[in-house]
Amino acid sequence: MPKKICVVGTGYVGLIAAVGLSDFGNNVVGVDLDKKKIDMLVQGISPIYEPGVEDYLNRNLESGRLTFTTEIAKALQESNVIFIAVGTPEKENEEADLSYVEAVVDTIAENLNEYKVIVTKSTVPVGTNRWIKELLKKKTGGNNFDVVSNPEFLREGKAAQDFFHPDRTVIGYESEKAKDIMFRVYRTLNVTSVPFVWCSLETAELIKYASNAFLATKITFINEIANLSEAVGADIHQVAKSMGMDGRISSKFLHPGPGYGGSCFPKDTKAIVSFGKKFGVKMKLIDSVIKTNELQKERMVEKIKKLSGTLKGKTITVLGLAFKQQTDDVRESPAITIIDKLLKEGVNVQAHDPKAMDNFSKLFPDIMYCHTAYDAAKNADALLIVTEWNEYRGLELSKLKTIMKGDILLDTRNLLDPDDVKEAGFIYEGVGRK
Ligand code: UDX
Ligand code: UDX
Repeated sequence: MPKKICVVGTGYVGLIAAVGLSDFGNNVVGVDLDKKKIDMLVQGISPIYEPGVEDYLNRNLESGRLTFTTEIAKALQESNVIFIAVGTPEKENEEADLSYVEAVVDTIAENLNEYKVIVTKSTVPVGTNRWIKELLKKKTGGNNFDVVSNPEFLREGKAAQDFFHPDRTVIGYESEKAKDIMFRVYRTLNVTSVPFVWCSLETAELIKYASNAFLATKITFINEIANLSEAVGADIHQVAKSMGMDGRISSKFLHPGPGYGGSCFPKDTKAIVSFGKKFGVKMKLIDSVIKTNELQKERMVEKIKKLSGTLKGKTITVLGLAFKQQTDDVRESPAITIIDKLLKEGVNVQAHDPKAMDNFSKLFPDIMYCHTAYDAAKNADALLIVTEWNEYRGLELSKLKTIMKGDILLDTRNLLDPDDVKEAGFIYEGVGRK
């Protein structure tokens, strides 16, 4: 049984890891530079909106197995397994920024008072774990540690479910001692028969990028077929459903939309192309996925332009700002590109989102944010649904129609029944269907 686990970084991934690992029965300390975050966590308040996480947080705080602190040196010294979960954002040249990881490795080196397993949770380019190992060796002048790569596959909005019921747990390792310790850390998952993939550091690193790049490709593929569906008069949902019945294809991630967003797909696809280049391999397919996804977001603006004639001076309602439902995260949300382009066209934007308005207003302070979807629809010429929040499925269409000035509804997530929308007096357009 490990003495204590320290999770460095209590952002999205770190918080779920800290809460989940303590729920497995481990003693966990979560560390972050951000004092405000730690103050909230100590009081049992989650800094992010993620269904279920606050319940797990409070349960484990009460059990005494989970604590939070900003005092990193003490937390590192008292732990023998350290999870690195700081951000690895995209740099201007599209590589992953490893400066936060490097800063943590420096601090670990300064506090390596006994043997420790250093586990990388953050998504890092292939070769990073070996680089961490060399860095630690150089800085400590010894080998009193092991490095492990343990990528995460959490979906925002479903992170707790994904943590406790993963499809697989991937662990890249080099020593039997580290393998044994990681086995104990995750023994609860082992009891529930979750498959474990024990592999090399490089294999684990690549599994993560390959999985995200594949899913991004699958979405981009169905978006391209959706665009073709519109042109030839086919129905994308029947096409996708039927494709998914083929077990080799599977039905997941075949939902067309305004393009993928979020904290992972955009950054990880760019990073894999970038480190592919470094290793002398041209990642032409993934490169084209990145470009095609950008075009998909822009295509939503072209659609609304085509429906509205000119956009200048029009009022447009945007429903949904988060990159997907069940999260307040707006990183790389298609709403960013769409609203940016609408503003450049001289549109007056009235927006609503059940959870993400605070985060979005940091990027776009000057658009109008409304308490309800109906408030956002007041006197609008057109309405765009950008995020698939369930509450938008239940919109009273006839009420919307009387509130709005115009009659255009662009449903970029195909949430609504086109017949219902038309019956309420709207001109309806979705993605890939009539
Ligand atoms: C994570 C992973 O790190 C990233 O690699 C993966 O691809 C997506 O998810 P995320 O948890 O979303 O990133 O990052 P973020 O929300 O930025 O959280 C990072 C946390 O680490 C922040 O709370 C930040 O304050 C903290 N931090 C950062 C430290 O405590 N120390 C540092 O040196 C840097
Ligand atoms: C993703 C991966 O699923 C997860 O395994 C990884 O660790 C982190 O990145 P996340 O970004 O939280 O998770 O959400 P996900 O549900 O994968 O959706 C990503 C984007 O793709 C969203 O913008 C979503 O709207 C879009 N999407 C997803 C589609 O447009 N169509 C689909 O069929 C599925």
